[in-house]
Amino acid sequence: MAKSKTTFSCTACGSVFTKWSGKCDGCGEWNTIVEDTPISAGPSSATLGGSKGKSITLTDLRHEETPPPRTLSGVNELDRVLGGGLVPASAILVGGDPGIGKSTLLLQAAAEFARKGLKTIYVSGEEASAQVRMRAQRLKLTDAPVQLAAETNLRDILTTLDQEKPQLAIIDSIQTMWSDTVGSAPGSVSQVRAAAHELTSFAKRKNMAIVIVGHVTKEGQIAGPRVVEHMVDTVLYFEGERGHQFRVLRAVKNRFGAADEIGVFEMTGRGLSQVTNPSALFLAERGEPAPGSVVFAGIEGTRPVLVELQALVAPSPHAQPRRAVVGWDNSRLAMILAVLEARCGIPFTGLDVYLNVAGGMKISEPAADLAVAAALISAREDSAIPAKTAIFGEISLSGALRPVSQTENRLKEASKLGFTTAIAPVGGKAAQVEGMSQTQFADLAQFVGDIFGAG
Ligand code: TYD
Ligand code: MG
Repeated sequence: MAKSKTTFSCTACGSVFTKWSGKCDGCGEWNTIVEDTPISAGPSSATLGGSKGKSITLTDLRHEETPPPRTLSGVNELDRVLGGGLVPASAILVGGDPGIGKSTLLLQAAAEFARKGLKTIYVSGEEASAQVRMRAQRLKLTDAPVQLAAETNLRDILTTLDQEKPQLAIIDSIQTMWSDTVGSAPGSVSQVRAAAHELTSFAKRKNMAIVIVGHVTKEGQIAGPRVVEHMVDTVLYFEGERGHQFRVLRAVKNRFGAADEIGVFEMTGRGLSQVTNPSALFLAERGEPAPGSVVFAGIEGTRPVLVELQALVAPSPHAQPRRAVVGWDNSRLAMILAVLEARCGIPFTGLDVYLNVAGGMKISEPAADLAVAAALISAREDSAIPAKTAIFGEISLSGALRPVSQTENRLKEASKLGFTTAIAPVGGKAAQVEGMSQTQFADLAQFVGDIFGAG
């Protein structure tokens, strides 16, 4: 006999365990595991053996499918991240830290889609309708035909959506929604999962696009958006640093378009405005060439973006020197430091190393390796990289430089912003861009010797 047993799940990543523990084996976070009540006990009989199901009609791959009709909001940065507009009958998750601007973004998006003729409903579980109206006033959106509701009861919301039949519904946020079929409190893993599941299958059944807002939570009893990532069609994260006005909307999963696509926005006193030339914005605060500062010619999705990397290397007062990274991967930094030491004889022992991606941008491309190495050596040797130089290239553990994709796009973007030289690996696709000269290196030691004198 199957006994109903308590399970535990991680509020950060949704991994399920049979026992409680302090650290989640799934994502490595501490204090995120909470007791869970299951959604249902499952079918009462243990096996499927009892009765036969009906057989399903199978089709082959040859069947012609017309691509889904998409609606454009007219906000380019948003449409591109969605994969070329909003797809009907889809579920979209928008995650982000509290206060980063999710509600602002979605209210503006709702207004744009409504102006384009989509019937749009915005359900807020966090703010009263009056508060949302006040924000709309401030954002000058009051003329848009968006319908508002302040509600958290999922049954009532679904009933209303079923009657009103909107083409776009926004649910802000999933952590405030509760379904009366689940016993636990709103925001718990089982509530969030159940509500997201209901909303997603409702979107498919009723041919409606549903946007679900989810707060990224650091700890405690509230489930994060990662718990529902697998259910929805599209996962977007809204990122940015509190102190900066830049915000990046990043697609991490998209069944209807390219993942890794980004849209760049700026938070102003009158809401979010799109940034059409992010490279210029990210490089705006850059002054004269300084030691430790390097410009990396990167690609985000289909678009080239130039960003500044800053490194600081200083003698460490600690027994264990510090390695601090903002906007890049920690373990990747450790790898670059190890390659520099082993293949070029440049040790960082006894030195604190700080690496920062300017403007609050986050980079995940391996093509940034060479630019990071250049910033580190430049900071360590206190010698600036020549002006108007952009750098890109992947470093392998042997110290060899590997060519990266889309060389031509990187060069074009750099040239557009007034750069005249690119440092790149050899062997990439031959790309010539007017006004750009290329210096190519086969391995890291050669690069170090040439740019910084014998390493
Ligand atoms: P909000 O959209 O409420 O964040 P979230 O829904 O992700 O929690 O945005 C909150 C922040 O945005 C708040 O700190 C103020 C700022 N903001 C502006 O700077 N300008 C504006 O026009 C608006 C509406 C908000
Ligand atoms: Mg909000």
